[in-house]
Amino acid sequence: MNEKLHLTPEEMREMGYQVVDRIVNHICQLPDKPVTRNSSPSQLEKALGEPLPEQGLDFEQIIQLLDEAVFSQIMHLDHPRFFAFVPGPSNYIGALATFLASGFNVFAGTWLEASGPAQIERVTVDWIVQLFGLPKTAGGLFVSGGSMANLTALAVARQVKLGGPSENSTVYYSDQTHSSVERALKILGFRREQIRSIPSDEAFRLPLPELEAQIQKDRSEGKQPFCVIANAGTTNTGAVDPLETLAEFCNQEGLWLHADGAYGAPAILSDQGRKQLKGIESVDSLTIDPHKWLFQPYDTGCILVRNSQHLKETFHILPEYLLDVEGKEQEVNFCDYGIELTRSFRALRLWMSFKMFGIESFRRAVSHGIEMAETAEETLRRSPYWDVVSPAQLGVVTFRFVPDSMDEVTIDKLQQQIVNRMIQEGFAMISTTVLRGRTVLRLCTINPRTTKEDIRNTIQKMEDIGKTIYKI
Ligand SMILES: Cc1ncc(COP(=O)(O)O)c(C=O)c1O
Repeated sequence: MNEKLHLTPEEMREMGYQVVDRIVNHICQLPDKPVTRNSSPSQLEKALGEPLPEQGLDFEQIIQLLDEAVFSQIMHLDHPRFFAFVPGPSNYIGALATFLASGFNVFAGTWLEASGPAQIERVTVDWIVQLFGLPKTAGGLFVSGGSMANLTALAVARQVKLGGPSENSTVYYSDQTHSSVERALKILGFRREQIRSIPSDEAFRLPLPELEAQIQKDRSEGKQPFCVIANAGTTNTGAVDPLETLAEFCNQEGLWLHADGAYGAPAILSDQGRKQLKGIESVDSLTIDPHKWLFQPYDTGCILVRNSQHLKETFHILPEYLLDVEGKEQEVNFCDYGIELTRSFRALRLWMSFKMFGIESFRRAVSHGIEMAETAEETLRRSPYWDVVSPAQLGVVTFRFVPDSMDEVTIDKLQQQIVNRMIQEGFAMISTTVLRGRTVLRLCTINPRTTKEDIRNTIQKMEDIGKTIYKI
């Protein structure tokens, strides 16, 4: 029994070294490991199901169990050949920051309880504000991810534009918008009839004429349009909605413009991305997800709002048991700016990573992801078996394996079969999505450690699988 949960300094060090050794080995061996690995629920139940342990075990035994049954059973989203969904190409400094923050058990809710961390968060948010060219009034905070950032932003938009829930209000976005936006609206109490999902144009972007027409129609029917959600990089194809035009339009029409840049916004660090994201500096709120293309461990999301006071207007509540933390004007209590009171010190991850590597390294790392998708597109275009469905954009390319004389439904199935076989083999992880009703393959190439060889070998592997299935 150890009722104080006490460990000696030697024990703590020894255990810590074991953990560090494991992480370092994992990172170093990653390119040679299979990307995918999964066991069945029954296998894992056998390995891990047990009654609540009455007595403690040796650390060694626990770590061994983790090696055998837990960390060996994950898909490696940080693997250089993980191209599915949105990869999570984290970095070691971010992981160390997470360890430090929990080692010191920082309560990042109030200035009184953690003024140093609050200042780090303020500085880091300010850096991001500057990266996106937002004005000095802008601010924000770190949250758990893009879903929470979108929820936070939409709560603010509703508060500022409508003063709270409103039966008649309507909100607009393209059919390429991430499902977390719909979920956020659902949580906030919006009904289906209040949500307008507008068919995207041929480049998968929100078309302004259709948006305008829908808003006019809704107004003429007594509805209250209040918010447009734009994509700063759709998950499906990397398409960017026309941010500059949308910002002008929303400004004229008195609508809130939220941009979901969860995965795509960091492309601002590259020359190409900066051009594509023109207008992002004019949005009212912006979601970014440092645990995607800013290379941080989960869970690191961030929400920025053009006027940070709007966050406070939306979320600040002062109960009697928190009177002591109210603080002075300059003392930021991040719990007043979002949903969480108790919050971990997520900002430290990005702050330490920026300090350690410098923004110049991040610029190169992001540009590399964009170049890798271009390499993929070039490789695909050189082979007669592939159709490129959407070109390389912000590190995403979509395509189909298309043998001659095959009907569309069979071609759809073929894409799925290729992915299934890739998952079984474990060489690389890719995923499908559906565009205009057709199943396509998709590569998201944002890992800075991915090589051209990784890309070419992955495409070759998929081509070989496609040919084997159809005995070409
Ligand atoms: C465009 C976009 N928005 C929002 C999200 C949700 O982010 P999270 O998974 O961090 O909650 C994602 C996730 O992939 C995304 O790609």
